[in-house]
Amino acid sequence: MKIDILTLFPNMFDNFLTESIIKRAINDKKVIINIHNIRDYSKDPHKKVDDYPFGGGEGMVLMPQPIFDAVEHLKTPDSYIILMTPQGIKYNQKKAYELKDKKHLIIICGHYEGFDERIRTLADTEISIGDYVLTGGELASMVVTDSVVRLIDGVIETNSHLKDSFNNNLLDYPTYTRPADYKGLKVPEILLSGHHENINMWRHEQQLKRTKERRPDLLEED
Ligand code: ADE
Repeated sequence: MKIDILTLFPNMFDNFLTESIIKRAINDKKVIINIHNIRDYSKDPHKKVDDYPFGGGEGMVLMPQPIFDAVEHLKTPDSYIILMTPQGIKYNQKKAYELKDKKHLIIICGHYEGFDERIRTLADTEISIGDYVLTGGELASMVVTDSVVRLIDGVIETNSHLKDSFNNNLLDYPTYTRPADYKGLKVPEILLSGHHENINMWRHEQQLKRTKERRPDLLEED
C-alpha cells in the first residue's frame, strides 16, 4: 500500500514515521508513506496557500489551487482520496478494514479555519475521527494511517488484531501478566488454570460484559 499525505505541516509527521510499528512497516516495505507540503504546489509567487473568505468572516481559507494540483499530480486509477474534516463520517474499525484493502490512499489534511468548499469535490470520502475540532487534519490523518497500517498483512500478528476491541462489535477482554498477585490485586484464577477451553469461554463472557457495561451502542450496530 502507498499513502500520500497532503499537509501544511510536514514536520508534524517526523516522529510518527520514525517510531514503533509504523517505522517497522516502512522498513519492511509493507507500506510507502510520503508526506507532501501543500505549499510546494502553490503557484503563487509567495507560495501563498490561503486567503480571506468571500463574504467576510473570521480566519483564512485554504485555496483550491495547491490542493487540486497536488491531487492531480499524485492521483492514479488506484487512488482513494480522503479529506480529513470534523464534518466527515465518523471513523471506526470497520472503516479501517475497508481502507486497508485500498492500494493507494491520498489523505488531505485541512487546516486553519477551513478550506474552500470546492476541495470537497476531489474526495472519495470525508472522515472525522470524532466529535471535537482539532487545529488541523494532521493528527486525524495519523490516526487513520496508524489504524490502517497495523491491519496490513504481516505488520503485526493477525491473531493480535483479530482479538482487538471492536472486532465483532465487542470490546477486548481483560489481560494480565506476572505477578499473579500484585499488592493484593489478584489475577482471576481461571487464567492460571491452563484450561484453554474454559479460558476462551471466560474471555468471551468478559467481552460481552464489558461491552454491555461500557459501550452498549456497539451491540446495536450491525
Ligand atoms: N480536522 C479538525 N478536526 C478534525 C476531526 N475531528 N476529524 C478529522 N479531521 C479534523
